[in-house]
Amino acid sequence: MFKHIRSIKKIVAVSAFLFLLLSNLSAQDAAAGKAVFSANCASCHKMDKDLTGPALMQADKRWNDDKALHQWIKNWKKEVATGNAYANKIKDWAPTEMNIFEGLPDGDIDNVIAYIKSYVPPVAVPTKRK
Ligand code: HEC
Repeated sequence: MFKHIRSIKKIVAVSAFLFLLLSNLSAQDAAAGKAVFSANCASCHKMDKDLTGPALMQADKRWNDDKALHQWIKNWKKEVATGNAYANKIKDWAPTEMNIFEGLPDGDIDNVIAYIKSYVPPVAVPTKRK
């Protein structure tokens, strides 16, 4: 009986450890992704405002397909060529073309996606009613 309780305790402890490890890892991915974003994307994109490119906040939800989103970021022309409907729609958003990032490591692209997913817009202070 006590033996069982001990093994249940062990399972709970190991699960809690793995959960903490994984949630901490995704926070690290998002932080690394923010650096990748600043270095490669911020000249055209902001998270919460349209610039040369569209605001990237919630882009993961608009795509609803991490593989397609990954391929778009790496080389948007290849994603357009797959016939993906959303890619074919967003490609005409601006007269400017997005850069090709074939040289960016896949891990960096995944980290940028983690950053987009983790992004929470700043809380707006209500302006005075007129
Ligand atoms: C030279 C400017 C430029 C740079 C640099 C750039 N983009 Fe873009 N991006 C665009 C434009 C413009 C679009 C809209 C598509 C179009 O009109 O061609 C776009 C579209 C996107 C979209 C689709 C947006 C949506 O709402 O679904 C994502 C995601 C994206 N870019 C991510 C990135 C990431 C990540 C980087 C950096 C690794 C990056 N972009 C760098 C210009 C840029």
